[in-house]
Amino acid sequence: MKIAMVGSGYVGLVSGACFADFGHDVVCIDKDQSKIDRLHEGVMPIYEPGLAELVGANVKAGRLSFTTDLAEGIRGASAIFIAVGTPSRRGDGHADLSFVYAVAKEVGEALENDAVVVTKSTVPVGTGDEVERILAASGTSHRVSVVSNPEFLREGAAIGDFKRPDRIVIGAEDDFGREIMREVYRPLFLNESPILFTSRRSSELIKYAANAFLATKITFINEMADLCEKVGANVQDVSRGIGMDNRIGSKFLHAGPGYGGSCFPKDTLALLKTAEDYESPVRIVEAVVKTNDSRKRAMGRKVIDALGGMDAARGKKVALLGLTFKPNTDDMRDSPAIAIAQTLVDAGVKVAAYDPEGMEQARPLMPEVAMTESPYEAIEGADAIAIVTEWDAFRALDLARVKELAKAPVLVDLRNIYQPDDVRALGFTYASIGRG
Ligand code: UDX
Repeated sequence: MKIAMVGSGYVGLVSGACFADFGHDVVCIDKDQSKIDRLHEGVMPIYEPGLAELVGANVKAGRLSFTTDLAEGIRGASAIFIAVGTPSRRGDGHADLSFVYAVAKEVGEALENDAVVVTKSTVPVGTGDEVERILAASGTSHRVSVVSNPEFLREGAAIGDFKRPDRIVIGAEDDFGREIMREVYRPLFLNESPILFTSRRSSELIKYAANAFLATKITFINEMADLCEKVGANVQDVSRGIGMDNRIGSKFLHAGPGYGGSCFPKDTLALLKTAEDYESPVRIVEAVVKTNDSRKRAMGRKVIDALGGMDAARGKKVALLGLTFKPNTDDMRDSPAIAIAQTLVDAGVKVAAYDPEGMEQARPLMPEVAMTESPYEAIEGADAIAIVTEWDAFRALDLARVKELAKAPVLVDLRNIYQPDDVRALGFTYASIGRG
């Protein structure tokens, strides 16, 4: 089957490469000429483990190609995916749908055959209806069915998530749409990945509800961690103890500095906007958004406490290990590191940082932070070391060397990657999350 993927960013490129790997004939389309040029040269616009190899293999096999020409790219395609960005609209948190609608219009005007138009971009409830209106208004004489098919890809694990999904959600309003989508996902169907068919509106809401629920789970355990510190309990034991209840589940119960990234912050805000528009408040999610925002700066204050408080902190040096919102990505969007660094800088602390992949993206976001070439360079002369992102490279630091290089052996482990007893036995002052 021929598939067109409009938008060759994170979601479009991973999905396109995986569909091609299933054996479909895929064209990835993007307006950005330099991005398409680089893709032709095998250079990926994002950092995602395994993607360059997957793209390379499928280009070589003749199943994956790239173009800036939408009309040419969609010619003969039975499924045309819209996978362009839906950033938060400045000012009000609404998802900005202008890119989605612009693509719908262009597709309608260029269409030369019957096709299913699939929104893969994360879009608020009702967007499919509008896409349908735009396609109809374009005057196309071909049969078009608009389908919602949200993605649930985690950065850093996106290819695995695509190929072995917990479920595939398809929101379709007619048999034509359902049939084509069944064909698109047939390779996964044979793999026994469950496919859930719903109405288009339900499917659109499922994406937001899933992300809001996961954000809630993280925020819940983060607040439990704070409580653990006060009452002298251990949040890792609490996580295990509640997670073993199948109704709760053990995933997404790691306490940390707060969630960030390209999805949770944006999607929770967009869900609140939808709830407001329909006068149906989701107060839990309101609380989650506020609690997570304030947590990031609170983590900066936790580091300041480890330095001996506000007065003692002025003029001291902190090493930040890890800047991205999670490991195995170079993505800095809404990373807790940004607020943590700002809180430290505001308190007159000198900050040096190291991240295996994220420093290029981090630099403009934290101009006052000195970027270094290695964790040990950041640690040199530091009065405290804070682990912000749980990169594997930080799990087995040479602690004897760390102690020698640092001015004071103070470790603030915001991801709980070390065992308190082990680190303290080496003479470190150690603070972590929810392990009072
Ligand atoms: C998320 C969803 O998992 C994915 O299904 C959706 O399509 C996009 O959003 P992603 O943003 O790539 O994916 O990262 P994820 O691994 O979910 O982590 C999000 C944030 O939550 C990170 O900042 C991470 O550090 C934090 N997190 C996650 C925790 O603090 N604790 C946890 O237990 C899990």
